[in-house]
Amino acid sequence: MANPKPLQLIVACAENRVIGRAGRLPFDIPEDKAWFHEKTAGQTVVLGRICFETWPKVLADGRVPVVITRNRALASDRVRVAATVSEALAIAQTLPGQIMVCGGQRIYEETLPIADRILLTLVHAEVPGDTWFPEWRHLPWRETWRKEGRDANYRYTFLSLDRATRP
Ligand SMILES: NC(=O)c1ccc[n+]([C@@H]2O[C@H](COP(=O)([O-])OP(=O)(O)OC[C@H]3O[C@@H](n4cnc5c(N)ncnc54)[C@H](OP(=O)(O)O)[C@@H]3O)[C@@H](O)[C@H]2O)c1
Repeated sequence: MANPKPLQLIVACAENRVIGRAGRLPFDIPEDKAWFHEKTAGQTVVLGRICFETWPKVLADGRVPVVITRNRALASDRVRVAATVSEALAIAQTLPGQIMVCGGQRIYEETLPIADRILLTLVHAEVPGDTWFPEWRHLPWRETWRKEGRDANYRYTFLSLDRATRP
């Protein structure tokens, strides 16, 4: 493909890299949820089956989901299904909008090595959980934007990280 669309990962991650607990987010941060919904609206979202099933607004606001699952029965006129990450990314390249990878763990693990950008909400806390974002800090990223935030429970930083050198 001549000019493939950039691969963007979007994630909210604690300092200890925890992203999930018991099928849910491990923190409830309204500003981050609003950010996540805003950034994914109108875009192609690549995500695992659990993320798809637990995200009530996945089909709202013009999102086009590509779900990675063995369950082809999830496919519909509004939902594409793929058996692997590489199949999902090939489908995503043919769809409108940006490509936003929305997790979960294995999907982040497989796409981080080829990601062009991470939209990272780094939550400045260590939280218990059962799902993790892979270590990204050893890879060469260029920070292009940041915004600090806080609420009654957490301090957090919104970051846009571009890969400093192409993989
Ligand atoms: N903080 C954040 O930004 C963030 C983002 C995303 C998720 N989360 C959290 O993470 C948890 C959900 O993530 P998860 O990792 O448990 O589940 P997931 O990736 O959403 O779903 C797992 C399922 O997706 C399919 N799958 C995933 N990776 C695959 C691969 N590489 N190849 C083929 N199929 C694959 C399989 O589906 P089948 O079994 O149907 O075949 C697998 O059982 C929740 O707690 C959620 O809240 C947090």
